[in-house]
Amino acid sequence: SRQTKLKEVAGIPLMDPTVNNWSQIQTFKAKPDDLLICTYPKSGTTWIQEIVNMIEQNGDVEKCQRTIIQHRHPVIEWARPPQPSGVDKANAMPAPRILRTHLPPQLLPPSFWTNNCKYLYVARNAKDCMVSYYHFYRMCQVLPNPGTWNEYFETFINGKVSWGSWFDHVKGWWEIRDRYQILFLFYEDMKRDPKREIQKVMQFMGKNLDEEVVDKIVLETSFEKMKDNPLTNFSTIPKTIMDQSISPFMRKGIVGDWKNHFTVAQNERFDEIYEQKMDGTSLNFCMEL
Ligand code: A3P
Repeated sequence: SRQTKLKEVAGIPLMDPTVNNWSQIQTFKAKPDDLLICTYPKSGTTWIQEIVNMIEQNGDVEKCQRTIIQHRHPVIEWARPPQPSGVDKANAMPAPRILRTHLPPQLLPPSFWTNNCKYLYVARNAKDCMVSYYHFYRMCQVLPNPGTWNEYFETFINGKVSWGSWFDHVKGWWEIRDRYQILFLFYEDMKRDPKREIQKVMQFMGKNLDEEVVDKIVLETSFEKMKDNPLTNFSTIPKTIMDQSISPFMRKGIVGDWKNHFTVAQNERFDEIYEQKMDGTSLNFCMEL
């Protein structure tokens, strides 16, 4: 019995308070040394955020642990009055800033492009992302009710979920990756070889950390560690926003959970739609490890 409805901006469904705050978001002033973490929801945002955080603090766990993860790198489009908006929080931060967004490139505040900022994009295969988002929708009380899995299946395919279509989002960021300073990563690669992916992020951030430090970051950003850590598992968020008794934020953290959700018919239909929507891209996703 949730009353929440999404509102569209240029065809992209977004949460109400975000739409109400749209002019503040669009006029946000980026700085040339901003690093923007970009993801479609449920693609490993919190994971890459913690990796970036650890690299920024040179692997110093103590320093990383002082604040709850969702306050460390504000989401630009986040708004929920009377709390300060993502833009308010970013404006109050010292440079160099690390910020987050789930916006597709066409909705990003233009100032990011004109300042030639760095972007760290993480993509996750559509099926696992869709499953993860379903469980998140079930527990997140400020999103609309997802309905049954079958109902949600249609909503996701039609891009009527918050932040819009997975297909357009991933394609949109992929297509511009060579025009801007974009490091494009995959959740599945991070699962397969976290050390290698963390080293890529480190280079991208212009950092050079010792191998022991990198090994420590691998360990500290593992699913098990992050699930147990109250500063990274979102357990401090009130039940009225995230009811983790329905589904935990740190749910499974694996590749291939879609197989436990898709029927054979749904899988065939999804593959067909996927081919149409992703036609012409050179993107290649791993669906199981
Ligand atoms: P599942 O629901 O499939 O478990 P986001 O942070 O973008 O909202 O993404 C959340 C998803 O990333 C969840 O997926 C969560 O379990 C997973 N995740 C978070 N931290 C992780 C980690 N350290 N390793 C692997 N997966 C992680």
